[in-house]
Amino acid sequence: MCKMLNAAAADRNKDPILAVLKSRVTSDRHLMALEISSGTGQHVIHFAKAFPNITWQPSEFEAQSLSSIEAYRQYHRLQNVKPPIYLDVSQSWETWGGFQAESCDLVVNINMMHISPLSCTMGLFHAVGKILKRQGLLLTYGPYAFKGSITPQSNVDFDQSLRYRLVIKQITGKRATSALPQSGVDPR
Ligand SMILES: C[S@@+](CC[C@H](N)C(=O)[O-])C[C@H]1O[C@@H](n2cnc3c(N)ncnc32)[C@H](O)[C@@H]1O
Repeated sequence: MCKMLNAAAADRNKDPILAVLKSRVTSDRHLMALEISSGTGQHVIHFAKAFPNITWQPSEFEAQSLSSIEAYRQYHRLQNVKPPIYLDVSQSWETWGGFQAESCDLVVNINMMHISPLSCTMGLFHAVGKILKRQGLLLTYGPYAFKGSITPQSNVDFDQSLRYRLVIKQITGKRATSALPQSGVDPR
């Protein structure tokens, strides 16, 4: 039995993201959307209810998330949400479940870039240049810096903790402690 997972952040940000979608995406003709790294599946269900004119293709990299998306899909029984596909965004778009060039009107990617290897961001931008139609839209959401500055303070702290985790991952044991000051990371 698949389990519907719940991410508190997805519940908090789904309406602000939907508001942006509503301001940019038409509701009066059929469109095709791909969500990359759908996570639990909360977003795709929320967006699919608001945009019945869009066929949504959720996707994920982790087995547990794929299973959760499918659980949400079965629970909500929405005709416009396809079964989730396995998609590793760091791999070539030609391996993405048979997507054709210029086949998508919309690609959505929420809270992935800051938490995954750089190859994922590179893969995302390379692929959307291929699979989006000419007037297509890429919507991403995340704790981004604007003109080099990060706000609010909670995102500054989050950025520090991500950098700290990255350094810890890259260097182990005794060397980790001695290398931290040189990395510019405050280990608190
Ligand atoms: C913080 S979660 C965000 C999930 C969801 N979009 C949300 O906002 O709730 C980051 C997601 O990135 C996905 N991810 C990490 N590496 C990936 C990869 N190589 N390809 C596709 N997704 C990946 C993870 O499986 C995870 O679901």
